[in-house]
Amino acid sequence: MTDQKKTAQLSLNGQTYDLPILSPTAGPDVLDIRKLYSQAGVFTYDPGFTSTASCDSTITFIDGDKGELLHRGYPIDQLAEKSHYLEVCYLLLYGELPSPAALEDFEQRVTMHTMLHEQMHYLFRGFRRDAHPMAIMVGVVGAMSAFYHDSTDINDPWQREVASIRMIAKMPTIAAMAYKYTIGQPFVSPRNDIDYASNFLRMCFAVPAEEYEVNPILSRAMDRIFTLHADHEQNASTSTVRLASSSGANPFACIAAGIACLWGPAHGGANQAALESLKEIGTPDRIPEFLARAKDKDDPFRLMGFGHRVYKNFDPRAKVMKQSADEVLDLLGVENNPILAVAKELEKQALADDYFVDRKLFPNVDFYSGIILEAMGFPTSMFTPIFALSRTVGWISQWKEMIGDPQNKIGRPRQLYLGETERNYTDIESR
Ligand code: CMC
Repeated sequence: MTDQKKTAQLSLNGQTYDLPILSPTAGPDVLDIRKLYSQAGVFTYDPGFTSTASCDSTITFIDGDKGELLHRGYPIDQLAEKSHYLEVCYLLLYGELPSPAALEDFEQRVTMHTMLHEQMHYLFRGFRRDAHPMAIMVGVVGAMSAFYHDSTDINDPWQREVASIRMIAKMPTIAAMAYKYTIGQPFVSPRNDIDYASNFLRMCFAVPAEEYEVNPILSRAMDRIFTLHADHEQNASTSTVRLASSSGANPFACIAAGIACLWGPAHGGANQAALESLKEIGTPDRIPEFLARAKDKDDPFRLMGFGHRVYKNFDPRAKVMKQSADEVLDLLGVENNPILAVAKELEKQALADDYFVDRKLFPNVDFYSGIILEAMGFPTSMFTPIFALSRTVGWISQWKEMIGDPQNKIGRPRQLYLGETERNYTDIESR
């Protein structure tokens, strides 16, 4: 990684400092400023981390200009087409595609951990029925730290492994229970004889009164949504998980922190917001009005599902998602879906508009996912929980990578202080 021959010079107060340049396997070079403060006595300033690498990683690579996303080197479109979610989980966690035997073993281990401790059911009942399922997920996943004491020692690789499998296995159960609770239906237990995505659909949509057959095409579409959201390098929620865990905190609590961060509308909450915007627009003739609002600096309205911190080209996940939306609506016989019609026309008009072209604002993964999820029968409030369950493997893979790195230090950013300098306390009578 380090190419000691390459350095950058920093001139400061008449002194020159050599900053080593680290060369990645892909992507731009990285200036190593780790010794900058001890040598030159200055900090760097980068709110929002637009130019700062917070760690090194071998898991996911994004080329935002090309619109490329690779997991362990494999392009996301190939994984979405040829692989499936649990295989991608294996790839993210262990670095290589599994052999048939290793995959079978992994799937078996995940399947055996899908049930929740029975006492956790009481936690759900403590929430109001109108609670957002993300609020329930933050609480219940955090509460796992109080239930699975045999997998919380992060210094023990075996316990880390068990915690990882537990979270990947139980997240669909938790998300489905959060949904069932808010609609007042009984919880549906996971089953070991069906695959991960089918199990999730069944836990969400089956009721004890009748048999429920999972449609294999919908199950495939669900699995693809999980796959497309599995990891996305150092995004806000992943960085939250890394920062929270850098103190050595409980792994379940750290994942709960990631879920809390993901909920925001600028991040995972955008899928719910995007579909709500499309519904608000309603018909293609109202698109110009909403585009004008998105461009108006005095209006806080943003076109949800558009734009990305890293992609300055089409989000490769959105391409697959768009195709999947057509397939799912076709299967369900939802021809001429008005929301899909608004989405396609909005995409067309935005991509022809100078405001969006100049700022390189393209549809992101959240633009089409909501259309598919709604057609499957999910309410908008379940969109972000589905993102959270899909991203759990990404958070865990990054967490494992960080804990296993001997260079791991507690994350502790510095600041540019602009407040008062030292002054004396004034007694209340004299204020
Ligand atoms: N609608 C209208 N204008 C936008 C949008 C948008 N969706 N996104 C960015 N802009 C404008 C922004 O106003 C700014 O214009 P100017 O340079 O004139 O001030 C310029 O584009 C750059 O925007 P920024 O906010 O500085 O860019 P950022 O990298 O900080 O933000 C973003 C990235 C994803 C938060 C932002 O594009 C956004 O708010 N998009 C809508 C929410 C969304 O879809 N989020 C999902 C992201 S993908 C899934 C995930 O990561 O969870």
